[in-house]
Amino acid sequence: MNATGDHTGSAGLGRHGPDRIAHWVVKSTRTDEMVRWYGTVFGAQVAYQDDEITFLTWDDESHRLAIIAVPPVLRLLFPLAMLKRKVYGIDHIALTFTSLERLLENYVRLKRQGIRPVWSINHGPTISLYYEDPDGIRLEFQVENFDPDHTAAFFYSDEFARNPIGVNIDPDYLLSRLRNGASPEELRRREAGTRPGRPVVANKKTITFRTL
Ligand SMILES: [Fe+2]
Repeated sequence: MNATGDHTGSAGLGRHGPDRIAHWVVKSTRTDEMVRWYGTVFGAQVAYQDDEITFLTWDDESHRLAIIAVPPVLRLLFPLAMLKRKVYGIDHIALTFTSLERLLENYVRLKRQGIRPVWSINHGPTISLYYEDPDGIRLEFQVENFDPDHTAAFFYSDEFARNPIGVNIDPDYLLSRLRNGASPEELRRREAGTRPGRPVVANKKTITFRTL
């Protein structure tokens, strides 16, 4: 709910915090693998590198991701580190594509290189493809289904109350429908990404050990 007492928009929110996200930093035992993965997935370029740290960028920010190299022995000391995000701490970082077409074409590009999402879902407010980098950091590639006011209203809808998680989608099916002329508006419906004859996997049924 915003400062004006309703929950349908963000116009009443004050602007006291930071203006935007600048970068994130990870400690990794696999710097080379991470640099290759982010190069493939994000088109990331190395802005600076020495033995201890690598700065990557893929847009107008000087660096979006820094990788601090730590000794491989840490994998032995923290054998469950990859699973930590499944139970606590930061779960994922979400990044927006400006169109459904771009999101799905990137999906195809990555699939050709053997990189597939661990979870594909229409949450309602977003269509989201979740990927995991070599360290198991989860990245949500998303496209917004509504403008912010409509998303805020959706959170208070009966549909959201019935199913706050969403409906799994088949990205290949969604892309084939898009290429066959279905409108992005039609494809934004949560059931639009379920192939005919396949079960609709919705709400808590979308949560498995893999997608958690
Ligand atoms: Fe998210």
